[in-house]
Amino acid sequence: MHEEARRAGTEKNAPAGEGKTSAPIFDPESLAVSLKRGVRLHETDGRAVFVDADGVALALPLSPETRRIFLSALDEGACTANELADAALHAAPSTDAASLYYVLAQLERGRWFRYALRSGGRNAATLEPFSRRFDFADASVTGRYRLSRFACLRREEDDAALESPLGHGRLLLHTSEAVALAAALSRPLSFEEMCVLHPALAPKDIGALLAMMRSVGALFPCDAEGRIPEDGSEQLRQWEFYDLLFHSRSRQGRHGNPIGGSCPFLGEILPLPGVKRPISAERVPLHRPETGERRADFFELAEMRRSLRIQGERPLGVKELGIFLHFVGGVREILPASPEKGYWYEASLRPCAGSGAIHELEYYLTVARCDGLPPGLYRYDPLAHALERLEADEKQLEKLLKGAARAMRGARCDVLITLAARFQRVSWKYRSIAYSLLLKDVGAVFQQMYLAASALGLAPCALGAGDSDDFAETAGLDYFSETSVGEFALSGR
Ligand SMILES: Cc1cc2nc3c(=O)[nH]c(=O)nc-3n(C[C@H](O)[C@H](O)[C@H](O)COP(=O)(O)O)c2cc1C
Repeated sequence: MHEEARRAGTEKNAPAGEGKTSAPIFDPESLAVSLKRGVRLHETDGRAVFVDADGVALALPLSPETRRIFLSALDEGACTANELADAALHAAPSTDAASLYYVLAQLERGRWFRYALRSGGRNAATLEPFSRRFDFADASVTGRYRLSRFACLRREEDDAALESPLGHGRLLLHTSEAVALAAALSRPLSFEEMCVLHPALAPKDIGALLAMMRSVGALFPCDAEGRIPEDGSEQLRQWEFYDLLFHSRSRQGRHGNPIGGSCPFLGEILPLPGVKRPISAERVPLHRPETGERRADFFELAEMRRSLRIQGERPLGVKELGIFLHFVGGVREILPASPEKGYWYEASLRPCAGSGAIHELEYYLTVARCDGLPPGLYRYDPLAHALERLEADEKQLEKLLKGAARAMRGARCDVLITLAARFQRVSWKYRSIAYSLLLKDVGAVFQQMYLAASALGLAPCALGAGDSDDFAETAGLDYFSETSVGEFALSGR
């Protein structure tokens, strides 16, 4: 096997270095091509155009006969670009070779292809470039390789997807041998060791898989200590795996997933109502300020706003709480769904900006001390401008309050406001960015809370993290339907 491995690794441009060569062991042109996800063919008046998921168009100036052969070979995805050209020129001799090679070059350059490694008559792995920034990397038989700590291997339908936010493509692994090879690379391995450990894989396929893993930013050559370049990078060392993955998947550029407000569940799942229905009959109406009752100068407020981790002698009052909630979360207008106009879900207008006017954030108040309001757990009904009293275990409420105090260097607060997202309100409409949007919504609410609290002379402080399981248990919510995403402490001064 060692000998076979060496031969496979050095058969191309092999110098007489007996395996001590960095000669490439992979040729991207050996991969079978097909069109990548999202590319559609549009045919009008005998003209054919490819259009990708972003709406970019590529003309196909081929005769109908050549086009048919060309498309059917691409559809099958079993031949290389060169084989595809040969097949078309052979089957339709009148083919304009220049146009054919032009189309192939355009597809290649624009990264419209996905590339499959064929082994034993089936696909072992398929590489999907995301954009023109993708480039093929090579691998060599010398040295050792190791997975990036940013690499992620997960199931997608019947395949395993290998992804990395360090790259501009992803790899689908179709066979258990290919998956096993990827998984084994959490430790440093040389090409020869891989050939020994994975005898079911032909050495040339191991070489191709290594290069494909390298090409998607999942695999890197390592030094004698098993360190890969990212281990020495100050920038990358300060990125956690989840943060960089989330960043790259919730922005455009480093994935090929649909992104934006495409309403993927339209016609399949009903959108949630714009305002959550009341959940308790025990209600406390809140003071609704009259126009002009309170005046504050915005510029002064902007200057005086501060985080205050104090619980003043005077507790927060229920009237102030009413004014605060009115200017932060109170519904000003319901925008009914109107499918004929393209408004697919009920929305609302409130003091804070909110992505898609969706307003998925619910406000739950753990009241420790408030003039005119008994301690306990409440939900704000933003339409009725009222608090709903909820059943909750006192010890669990104290645990939430203690968690907030820990985050504020030990300071207690009068009221802890927990923002919980009705997540499916956002994900019903948006793809790829739903979670990042709701965090941005939390930011908008935080700032509004700071300004409202400053105008009322209260002590506000945003909090960085809370326990979403604790909160779901305390409030009797389902973690996956309405999960807490932000906390804010409010006190009198
Ligand atoms: C998203 C966010 C999270 C925060 N988390 C905490 C926290 O957990 N504990 C805390 O005491 N302050 C927290 N703060 C308040 C900041 O520490 C504070 O804004 C910062 O020190 C600047 O002070 P200033 O708000 O008075 O300008 C948070 C602020 C924001 C915006």
